[in-house]
Amino acid sequence: MRIEGAVGLVTGGASGLGAGTARMLVERGGRVGILDLPSSAGAALADELGDAAVFCPVDVALADQVERSVVSVAEHFGRIDVCVNAAGISPAARVLSRKGELHPLDMFRRTVDINLVGAFDVLRHAVAAMSRNDPGPDGGRGLVVNVSSAAALEGQAGQAAYSASKGALVALTLPLARDLAIWGIRVMTVCPGIMDTGMLAGVDEKRRAALTDLHVFPKRLGRPSDFAALVASFMENELLNGEVVRLDAATRL
Ligand SMILES: NC(=O)c1ccc[n+]([C@@H]2O[C@H](COP(=O)([O-])OP(=O)(O)OC[C@H]3O[C@@H](n4cnc5c(N)ncnc54)[C@H](O)[C@@H]3O)[C@@H](O)[C@H]2O)c1
Repeated sequence: MRIEGAVGLVTGGASGLGAGTARMLVERGGRVGILDLPSSAGAALADELGDAAVFCPVDVALADQVERSVVSVAEHFGRIDVCVNAAGISPAARVLSRKGELHPLDMFRRTVDINLVGAFDVLRHAVAAMSRNDPGPDGGRGLVVNVSSAAALEGQAGQAAYSASKGALVALTLPLARDLAIWGIRVMTVCPGIMDTGMLAGVDEKRRAALTDLHVFPKRLGRPSDFAALVASFMENELLNGEVVRLDAATRL
């Protein structure tokens, strides 16, 4: 898939990994629909990126908003080639705290609703739009990239909800790729390690240094541009399909 001229739909596109992907697409001659919360910086980013970007305010956990926003991106640009599901939340709570408090069930449900059900809902509408694309030389019509986490594989204490939601995205990869093969649509999943994004906002310097030290090499936090470069390679290398890729500098949590 050529990046120049491609249309991306990026959830969580206002910040961090999603914003890095939106910038990459526009810098390389593509266009992008940025889907993010109304309170996000999505409108400002779309303004900055100009006519090649459009912002759709949406909560990915709300099905009516998801359908409306994916359809509006497809209508605005006439197609969708790549869908990147980067919207996510990572609340922390132990199943039973030291004080004996139960993990709030609402927190578990909300995490799964946004990270898992929201991603699935967005991609099912996005692949419907991709299915209308003319096939490329090898029959390709599109690509879905879901953002999981190293916590899908090595969740920490307090990450039950987050790891459950992200682990399900890993498990979804192969059946989605098999389902969508008849349409020439590929599916890839990324498990980032520790990335320097909005998710690390509020983490103090000492903790940042400890997190950085978990990266074996290179000894730095991941950047949105590292993630965007991986998405670009997924787009360009059409043999990549049905696979989960760690982007984590050899970190094992
Ligand atoms: N930062 C890390 O270290 C790290 C590591 C592994 C995985 N991830 C995953 O990467 C993805 C991107 O996160 P990030 O690190 O760029 O963080 P971020 O906080 O910078 O970006 C997340 C974006 O998702 C949006 N969002 C949250 N809830 C939403 C909802 N209901 N509807 C629409 N948009 C919503 C936020 O507004 C925000 O713009 C997430 O899925 C996260 O779980 C991040």
